Amino acid sequence: MRTKYPKFQAIEALVDAMHLKTDDITSVTELRDSMRSFVARIRYKNCTSDRQVILKRAFTGSIEFESDIIRLFERNGIDVAKIIALYPEAGLLILEDLGDINLESMDSRENRIQEAIDILIQIHFAGIRCFDELRSIFRAHGRDRKFDLSGYNKQLAMINLNRIQDLFRNKFPNSEKRKILELLLQMLSFTAEKNPNCYQADIPSPLIINDLKPHHFILHDNRFKIIDLETLTLFGIPQIDLVHLLEHPAFQLSSEIKEKYINYYYDKILSARMDFLKGREDFKIGYVYYLLTYKLFISCVSRKKSPNLLNEFSGVPLIDDILQIVKKHEA
Ligand SMILES: Nc1ncnc2c1ncn2[C@@H]1O[C@H](COP(=O)(O)OP(=O)(O)O)[C@@H](O)[C@H]1O
Ligand SMILES: [Mg+2]
Repeated sequence: MRTKYPKFQAIEALVDAMHLKTDDITSVTELRDSMRSFVARIRYKNCTSDRQVILKRAFTGSIEFESDIIRLFERNGIDVAKIIALYPEAGLLILEDLGDINLESMDSRENRIQEAIDILIQIHFAGIRCFDELRSIFRAHGRDRKFDLSGYNKQLAMINLNRIQDLFRNKFPNSEKRKILELLLQMLSFTAEKNPNCYQADIPSPLIINDLKPHHFILHDNRFKIIDLETLTLFGIPQIDLVHLLEHPAFQLSSEIKEKYINYYYDKILSARMDFLKGREDFKIGYVYYLLTYKLFISCVSRKKSPNLLNEFSGVPLIDDILQIVKKHEA
């Protein structure tokens, strides 16, 4: 069982690790305190001046994994928060403080999505370019699992079934919900088939963020830098990151704008001849698959039951089959 680190221990560990005195710490602003990590902005005095840094304390393995990825990103020109110090025994990572303005909260956020897509593409490419190096990082941290598509499918099936249950609670009989799920799974297998290199352990594949959050793109010197690289994986379909970015509720993008960004992403991948995505239209089915599961997720989390959820996707072959089931029961 994982236990939570009491925050005072994190500060104590910092004081120890950096050879400070408790009095040297002039302020501690908590930014996150969860089962996963404790993150705080720390101001401390040293001989020359006051300094402000970000302290991240998490489990030893995950802090080291994150710092290995940060270093690889730095070597490959991907903008990240610089590591000031790493104390693996104490589970401490000290990072450059990038400030509080991020892609989710800033005023002109809709206008800056393209910059985030550029970073996303750099990250996806890094998977192909640095595949061997990345695999050894993943392996060193016990994350080098062989991807098991059928196990993954089963897991997704469970998650999505629960979401569908929740969303359409009293609407359809279970047999119909299962049909919807079956169609979702068909979309996933189709997407996996079209992106075979994303699911095979030994073939270079894009590096996926997997849990992209717009607030992890922090604006610093008028450029975005990315933080929190703990969720990265070499297995999966890159569309998931694009969906998490373009469909985030902080942006209210029109379908035209989303289409423009999807094409922007796709064209850049094509022009770099990193052909891990086969066919623009097939790419979009993968996008729609993740979009659907993401929307199901959002609706369940926000408890907003949205009966019109699917109408947005009419015209997409498998979605139309789902819509038919929905319509039959709405009539
Ligand atoms: N280098 C940084 N500069 C500024 N803020 C940061 C930095 N690192 C983390 N934060 C803030 O702390 C929060 C939690 O850090 P994060 O690395 O995302 O931890 P977790 O893995 O628990 O999500 C971030 O969402 C962000 O607001
Ligand atoms: Mg985070």
